[in-house]
Amino acid sequence: MEALATSAQFCIEPQCGACFGLNEHLYSCSHCGGLLDIARTGDPHDNPQNLPAIWEARRTSFEPRDRSGVWRFRELLPFAQDAPIVTLEEGNTPLYEAPRSAGYCGLQALTLKHQGCNPTGSFKDTGMTTAVTQALILGVRTVVCASTGNTAASLAAYAARAGLRCAILIPKGQVSHAKLAQSLDYGARVLEIEGNFDDCMRLVRDLREEESVYLVNSINPYRIEGQKTVAAELMEQLHWRVPDHVVVPGGNLGNSTALGKGFSELLDLGLIERLPRLSVIQAAGAAPFGQIFGNGDLSNLATDPIPNDLLQPLRHPQTLASAIKIGAPVSWKKALRRVVQSGGQVITVSENEIADARAIIGRDGVGCEPASATTVAGIKRLVATGHINSSDRVVAVLTGHVLKDTDYAIKYHSENLFSPNRDSDKTKEERRIKATYGNPPRRVKADRKTILQELGR
Ligand code: F0G
Repeated sequence: MEALATSAQFCIEPQCGACFGLNEHLYSCSHCGGLLDIARTGDPHDNPQNLPAIWEARRTSFEPRDRSGVWRFRELLPFAQDAPIVTLEEGNTPLYEAPRSAGYCGLQALTLKHQGCNPTGSFKDTGMTTAVTQALILGVRTVVCASTGNTAASLAAYAARAGLRCAILIPKGQVSHAKLAQSLDYGARVLEIEGNFDDCMRLVRDLREEESVYLVNSINPYRIEGQKTVAAELMEQLHWRVPDHVVVPGGNLGNSTALGKGFSELLDLGLIERLPRLSVIQAAGAAPFGQIFGNGDLSNLATDPIPNDLLQPLRHPQTLASAIKIGAPVSWKKALRRVVQSGGQVITVSENEIADARAIIGRDGVGCEPASATTVAGIKRLVATGHINSSDRVVAVLTGHVLKDTDYAIKYHSENLFSPNRDSDKTKEERRIKATYGNPPRRVKADRKTILQELGR
């Protein structure tokens, strides 16, 4: 008999620590306003050492909850056996060796965990399956999120599967066509807002008192629960040998929080012997989290209260990696603790670095959207500064599929991509991104001889 974990919701502020039931409809602590985390209050299994074999055995099952790469790890999740699971068979994403990207970074080897291979093309699905399942448990009518595009597409799909009404708030004109098309197709009510992602986020947070509405941004701890299973899946794929570094992009900071939580829980269960160093990479024009790390020793923040004003929100974040164009990340305190506990780093990379790194990942036959490529750009920097050694075992988490933003790719290859106008003293020509790995299409004459000439090049 599988013994599922008993759990509760807890306020993350050390001086508060208030506890709430799993089915209380909350997004933050009703005493102090702090973020909530879900934590186990009992053992997930009589003998946790047996869990890896149980999880692996489910891979050959045809039961929907076993075929999901999230619910396969259900002993780690705060749900009862008979939960009304909403799944699109998310997770179970591939790990790729990426020799060209490794060489580019100065590493002997580099492994890519491609979360873009989820049903809606981004990592969001691993958290949406649990959040929308919780929406059914709470009996709400409508699910809502603010989004730069991927959360919206994912929520729209899972809401459609669950038969729930769905509304998404997106910054007008700042979401890629592919992501917008997904949300429209899945039947969501798409509300385009004059403003940026942070404005959308403020608006949805204003709805939190509405009983019939459920917010599923990563402020919602049930999102984090699903996303944390990626740590277990990754460890299974690595035969439980802990990598030295795991590197993720940082936007609203739910993904870094979730992975950090996942690894910590595996450590607590005795399934891994140490934490990998978790590093977060932000785009330089949208890096409020990265700014904290420039400011001295943070080691006491692993356990001490974190001052609210340590993170200075950016009013006008700028980056072509539209998925992470975020100036006031909601989950920054949770992510900060996870990164500091693991001994990781938070750094920033330029638009040029992101663009070239994305093209290099493509040359490994993998491909990803711009936000995901911050990882490879960041790893190259972390190798150069000595935080990562060339022989270290490194995993970069790619968060979105290459088809999520083809406009960016085509503009890059035709050298028609311009970094955002952060420095007003730069001319448009100075902002043109040099496509070091550009591969523009050629227009050729429609005859055999020309084609053969082209092939000989
Ligand atoms: N990569 C991609 C492709 C994303 O879509 C996002 C976030 C991130 C990275 C950053 O992850 O927010 O957990 O730090 N996208 C959100 C959205 C904001 O609305 O789709 P994070």
